[in-house]
Amino acid sequence: MSFGQMPIANNFLNESDKKNEYFFEMAVGFCNNCKTFQLLENPEPEMMFNDTYAFFSGTSEYMKRHFKDFSEDLKQKYLQEIQDPFIVEIGCNDGIMINNFKELGFRHVGIEPSGNVADVAISRGINVLKSFFNAEITSSIEKDFGKADLITSANVICHIPDLNSVAENVSHLLSQNGVFVFEEPYLGAVIEKTSYDQIYDEHIYVFSAIGLRNSFSRHGLKLINLEPQLTHGGSMRYHFALEDSDHPISKNVEDIVNLELAQGLDKPETYEQFKENCEKSKSDLVKLLTKLKEQGKKVCGYAATSKSTTVLNYCDIDQELIEFISDTTPIKQGKLSPGKYIPIKKYEEFSAFDPDYAVLFAWNHEKEILAKEKDFSEKGGKWIKFVPTVHVNG
Ligand code: SAH
Ligand code: TMP
Repeated sequence: MSFGQMPIANNFLNESDKKNEYFFEMAVGFCNNCKTFQLLENPEPEMMFNDTYAFFSGTSEYMKRHFKDFSEDLKQKYLQEIQDPFIVEIGCNDGIMINNFKELGFRHVGIEPSGNVADVAISRGINVLKSFFNAEITSSIEKDFGKADLITSANVICHIPDLNSVAENVSHLLSQNGVFVFEEPYLGAVIEKTSYDQIYDEHIYVFSAIGLRNSFSRHGLKLINLEPQLTHGGSMRYHFALEDSDHPISKNVEDIVNLELAQGLDKPETYEQFKENCEKSKSDLVKLLTKLKEQGKKVCGYAATSKSTTVLNYCDIDQELIEFISDTTPIKQGKLSPGKYIPIKKYEEFSAFDPDYAVLFAWNHEKEILAKEKDFSEKGGKWIKFVPTVHVNG
C-alpha cells in the first residue's frame, strides 16, 4: 500500500526551505516470511536524527510518569539481586527515562544520535554517547563499562532500519543473565484502530510479537515476556534475554501470540482490509473538513505531531481546511508543517483563535489534553478525532 509522496515528518520548515523539501514514496509491505510490517523505502537516518531533531520526550507530563513507573518496574524485576548494575538506553532523547536510573546512582549510558536532545540529557548530568546504536559503539561501551545487565529503549527500535544488527549488537552487549526490554507502538493496535498515522519516515517497522520473535530468535535472543501498554495509542513492551540465560518464558508470551493469530496479524488479508480502512478514513476526514469549511466554521489543529504529517499529506489537507496547528514545542512554532505548509503557532493561539472545531492530532495524549482544555469544550468547541474512525466529539 502506498500513502503517496511523504516529506520528513518532523522537518518543520521556513518559507524559504519549501523549494528544497525532500519527499519519498511512503509505501508499506507485509513480509509473509518473517511476518514483519514495514516501510519499503526509508530516508537515510541522518536526515531525521541530527542536531535539529524536533521531538523532545519531556513535553508530556504523562510520559514522564510513565517512564518513572517503567524504570521502577525494571529495577524490581531485574536489578534487585545485581551488585552495581550497568544500564544502557538506546535512544535516550532528553533523558526522560534514563534519568531515573541516574537518580538511583546506577552506572548508566544513554546512546543518542540527535545532538540537540542529547545535550538536554547531558545538561542533566546523564552520561550520553552521541551516536547511533551500532557495532562500533557497542564495542566501545563494552570496553569502557563491561557487559550490560539491562538494555532498555522506548519508541526507538522501530526507527532502526537494520533489525538484524540491533539483535546482533544487543546479544553481544548483554551479560549472561542480562535483559533487553523495550516498548514500541503496537501493530495489533494500529490494525484494530486504523491508526495509520503511526506510519511515517522514522517508524520503519510497526512490530508484533510474532514478527519480532522471528527476527530476534535468529540472533540468539528469546522472547521471555510481553506487557501491553496504553502509551502512544497502544504499545507493547517486549522482554528479550539470551537463549541460554536462566530466564523462564512467561505465559503472557503464548497468550499474546495467540491473540495475534486470532487477529490475523500473520496473514496478508488483514493488511488488505487495513488498506481499505485507511482509504475510508481519508475520505471521511476530507468530507467532514470540507463541509465545515463550506459552513464557515473556524477549524484549527491541536499538536503538530509527527503523526499529523502522515495524515495531512496522505489526505492532502492544507491551510484551506485547517487554518493553523498549535503546539507547545518552541522549535516547531513559527514554522510550516512538512509538505502541506500549515502554519504552526504557539499554544496560546489556540484559545485566542476561539475555534469551533479542533482536529486532535495528539490523540494518543487525549486524556491529558482534554483535561487541560476543559474551557474549550465548555464554550461549545468540538474535537475532531480520526481514530478509530472519523468522528466529532463535543
Ligand atoms: N525514548 C524516547 C525518545 C523516542 S524518539 C521516548 O520514548 O520518548 C526516538 C529517539 O531515537 C530520538 O531521540 C532519535 O534520535 C533516537 N534514535 C533514532 N535512531 C537511533 C539509533 N539508530 N540509535 C539510537 N537512537 C536512535
Ligand atoms: P507525539 O504524539 O509524537 O508524542 O508528539 C507530541 C506533540 O504534541 C509535540 O509536538 C508536543 C505536542 N503537544 C501539545 O502541543 N500539547 C500537549 O498538551 C501535548 C501533550 C503535546
